Amino acid sequence: MAREYLEFASELAEEAGGLLIDYLGRELVISKKGSINLVTEADLKSEELLVSKIFEHFPHHSILAEESGARQLGKKASPCRWIIDPLDGTTNFAHRYPFFCVSIALEIDHRLEVGVVYDPTARELFTAVRGEGARLNGRSIQVSSEASLGDSLVCTGFAYDRDQILENLKLFHEFMLKARAVRRDGSAALDLCYVAAGRFDGFWELSLNPWDVAAGTLIVAEAGGRVSRFDGSPALLEIPESVATNGQIHEQMLSIINTMGELKVEG
Ligand code: IPD
Ligand code: CA
Ligand code: CA
Repeated sequence: MAREYLEFASELAEEAGGLLIDYLGRELVISKKGSINLVTEADLKSEELLVSKIFEHFPHHSILAEESGARQLGKKASPCRWIIDPLDGTTNFAHRYPFFCVSIALEIDHRLEVGVVYDPTARELFTAVRGEGARLNGRSIQVSSEASLGDSLVCTGFAYDRDQILENLKLFHEFMLKARAVRRDGSAALDLCYVAAGRFDGFWELSLNPWDVAAGTLIVAEAGGRVSRFDGSPALLEIPESVATNGQIHEQMLSIINTMGELKVEG
């Protein structure tokens, strides 16, 4: 069954990615959810497409989607929940900076089973099924084998809340001094996939939502990496902080994060 879900989610992510590319060529209608938090017509149309196709194929499943929240058609709760970000990297998209994606995950009985992230500009489809490894355009991928943070390329992202930005700047400063280099690319889902593919050695962020990380977390784990909270315990979708690495530099990253004192982390 997981294979079927994977095929469905992969086709759907590619279709939604195609829709995003179509919108990229047009004049965009952009609204603000906060002073720097944008939502475009493309976010909404992509979500509409994803939600309608999921309910068309799986009317008994439930959905957690960024723009419309938690939804189900019937009264009975389902063990199957799709967690979707119709456009991860909205600010990039609004500025036509080509680093954004569609992220789709399926959780069954509160366990991530399928993760799909599609980058329509690079035409890269990252996928994972629990216990079956991670793939990029059908080819198996693994995390890097770098063991030293000093020789690592790490990345992070900043939430839209100014207080959270200030909190993360403390860590950004530290990692700039301790790692080889730090990137901030603007799509948490793709950042995680880049860890899975060995392009980044590690990633951290303070204030994420389930739809940002659901698919990417499974993809990193299936590529042999480790994803945890700041205290090293396993990552939970409801907890906003995340550290994802190749496993080798995980403790080094946690120790930097934890020497900063208590960080204010908010969802
Ligand atoms: C955002 C991106 C960004 C991350 C933010 C997310 P959005 O999602 O993933 O990289 O730093 O925390 O909210 O708004 O582009 O879907
Ligand atoms: Ca997002
Ligand atoms: Ca989004």
